[in-house]
Amino acid sequence: MEKCLSDILPIMAVENDCILSKMGDITVAFSVELPEIFSLGEDDYENLHQAWVKAIKVLPKHSVLHKQDWFTENKYSPDKSAKRSFLTERSDSYFAGRPFLDHACFIMLTKKPAQRKPVNSMFSSLIRHSIVPAETLDAEQLRNFLDVCGQFKRILEDSGMIKLTRLRDHELTSSRREFGLIERYCSLSEKKDSRLFKDISFSDDIKIGDQHLQVYSLGDVEDLPALCGSRITYEKYSTDRTKFSIGFAGSLGMLLPCNHIYNQYVFVDDSAKTIKKLESKRLRLQSLSAYSRENSISRDATNDFLNEAIGEQRMPVRAHFNVMVWGREKVELKDIKNMVTSGLAQMDAVAKLESAGAPQIFWAGIPGNAGDFPLNDSFDTFATQASCFFNQESNYRSVAPDEGFRFTDRLTGRPVFLDPYNAPRAQGVSSNMGTLVCGASGAGKSMVINHILRTLYDQGAHCVTIDIGGSYRGLCDLVDGYYFTYTETNPIRFNPFYLPDGQILDTEKKESLKSLLVALWKQENDAYNRSEYVALSNALQGYFDHLKESQEIFPSFNSFYEYLQSVYIEVLRSHNVKDKDFDVNNFLYVLRPYYRGGEFDYLLNATENLDLLNTRFVVVEVDAIKDHPVLFPVVCLLCMEMFLSKMRKLPGVRKVLTVDEAWKAIAKSGMAEFLKYAFKTIRKFNGVPIVITQELDDLISSPIIKDAIINNADVKILMDMRKFLHKFDKLQDALGLSEKEKTILLSVKKEDREIFVGIGGQIMKVLRNELCPEEYYAYTTEGRERVMVIEYAEKFGSMEKGIVELVKDKQQRA
Ligand SMILES: Nc1ncnc2c1ncn2[C@@H]1O[C@H](COP(=O)(O)OP(=O)(O)OP(=O)(O)O)[C@@H](O)[C@H]1O
Ligand SMILES: [Mg+2]
Repeated sequence: MEKCLSDILPIMAVENDCILSKMGDITVAFSVELPEIFSLGEDDYENLHQAWVKAIKVLPKHSVLHKQDWFTENKYSPDKSAKRSFLTERSDSYFAGRPFLDHACFIMLTKKPAQRKPVNSMFSSLIRHSIVPAETLDAEQLRNFLDVCGQFKRILEDSGMIKLTRLRDHELTSSRREFGLIERYCSLSEKKDSRLFKDISFSDDIKIGDQHLQVYSLGDVEDLPALCGSRITYEKYSTDRTKFSIGFAGSLGMLLPCNHIYNQYVFVDDSAKTIKKLESKRLRLQSLSAYSRENSISRDATNDFLNEAIGEQRMPVRAHFNVMVWGREKVELKDIKNMVTSGLAQMDAVAKLESAGAPQIFWAGIPGNAGDFPLNDSFDTFATQASCFFNQESNYRSVAPDEGFRFTDRLTGRPVFLDPYNAPRAQGVSSNMGTLVCGASGAGKSMVINHILRTLYDQGAHCVTIDIGGSYRGLCDLVDGYYFTYTETNPIRFNPFYLPDGQILDTEKKESLKSLLVALWKQENDAYNRSEYVALSNALQGYFDHLKESQEIFPSFNSFYEYLQSVYIEVLRSHNVKDKDFDVNNFLYVLRPYYRGGEFDYLLNATENLDLLNTRFVVVEVDAIKDHPVLFPVVCLLCMEMFLSKMRKLPGVRKVLTVDEAWKAIAKSGMAEFLKYAFKTIRKFNGVPIVITQELDDLISSPIIKDAIINNADVKILMDMRKFLHKFDKLQDALGLSEKEKTILLSVKKEDREIFVGIGGQIMKVLRNELCPEEYYAYTTEGRERVMVIEYAEKFGSMEKGIVELVKDKQQRA
């Protein structure tokens, strides 16, 4: 017998953003944003659970909470509209088509009219309808119910982890282009925007269009796990010392890798009545208990239930959970069955494959029709236990591709874009963009930073990188940046005294020069007093005034030195400045090596190439001098000074200073104060300082460094730390990681290219740094591979062409 869906659909109308069923039930629907999977800790799950219980408690009697989680297979499709760089284009085509599971969650709150007959398997609106009762038409009742829905929403949102958005009429019913929720369910459409009408057939099994649907239900106490809780330990990501949490029903949610819908129902009845009914049942069983052991067991169970309800003030409810799966071929369903069974086994439950009852259960799943659920398929429990079975997690969220760095999610490898800088600051999660990258040698730090710098560069940023070991060579060549390898015979020359046309000596520049001079002059523990500060400040001002008067003098350290020697000494003398206030001779003596004829006279007196700053990508490689006690820190310092002046000149442009390991020498040489000053200034000008380190010991040994770097790095990128498990406490202490951060961090696996990203102590997640082959060869830090890339680049004329050919060759050989 064929019927038209619109004739038998249990939904009468969708009006005022409510669904009205033909039985007179009124339903309000929400779309729900759940927390990202693998980002919650034990306490979060507990809080979330509490929030659900509290929210259920506000529901009035004769109401139903129907939570419907959709998990649908999808494929990644990159956004090709914008202009893309070589590597973005390559990675887009590499990741295109990658399968993942989409998730959407809806909550339907249904109020049944009080005198509505309870529905059981024998009687359902699928079989016949009735006339809308008067109560449904009562405006007062509706208003009360809407109030309750508002409270429900607020309680959940107060947990800070869930967001509910009321679904409007047009989202519930279909439009020309898009399916509304109701029709999407009835046609089991995996995508919102595909409108294809389908038949529903309830003959041997449920068929919707060409899809076979199966329902696995948890509707019987016997099938349920003996124990339930808000969370469960996820062994894969746990260690001896940490227990990684996922939601109790996680294995029926994101972790069930097939198309499915997870329906969760909580039916709130008149609890006084329920208790009364159970009381009489208990009495009945009591009198029958003498006849059989089963009866006495049932009596005890009922008794326990009643004790819990009254003793612990639990709210008795009825509940039902089911998983609907579908496949185009019947054979597919076999594999799916195994997946569902093992998913349920993980929570220690047994699945029941519904056969005769399936159509009714499917029918009740229509949004707005939860009131039609056959109650004999549900079981008695409490709100506390029922909400353990809720799916609590959703997919990784992603920002727009041009706003973040592309990583991939942990579960399926789908590209997700992370913005650790702008969005968290706007939300008040972080207060700076300082980034600390820490991990053992070979853990992938440089590869991550290459990827981040490349993305930032593509987005228009200026990047200066100080590196030991040549990890940024390939990328620098690719973007046509300025690559400088520092050797003693070919040193980089700076000139911090040179002001490009149009620039004047402002306070910032003066401050920066002063800090530089102090860093060259004093050791960390040397006292530096106010009078010296004033004297240096005056000297700089005097020198620049002097330059203005005598145009023929070229600004450089040499002429500054001479100015001090000839003019400024006299000024001091005339002002009667004592040596203890400013010992100019000591100053001149200590800084002598930087003056003409001195050992390092080239460093501060460059006469050409002074405007490196227009180059957007600068790498200074300082491997050759990394053991030089003076040269090395001073060069690093000068690079930073160069960066600082770049910052002042480029307002509104993102500026990134990356120091890969090199900061260590600065710290050791007693120039930590300058580092602190530099980082403070970078922050002030909205720059991004990135510090990379293998070991934290050096970082925390100096309080100044700790303060300058760790305490001001709201963004932490940490690599696989299992190697440091034996001294993890110290690390945790140094980084100020919470227990939750520790648990998540220790689940990071190097072999999967995973990284931990923590922002402001509030956002923490594990992402994968999966690279497409072209990216890999552009970034590789492996010596042999790097040589090969350079050879190819030379052979084919450019880095880009070289990489393309190299990847082609590799693929052919594979
Ligand atoms: N995301 C990745 N994809 C593929 N390979 C990677 C990735 N990350 C790291 N590797 C491999 O590991 C090697 C070492 O990585 P990398 O140079 O980034 O480590 P590191 O943490 O910077 O080490 P060090 O502290 O010694 O500088 C790379 O040359 C590369 O071969
Ligand atoms: Mg490295």
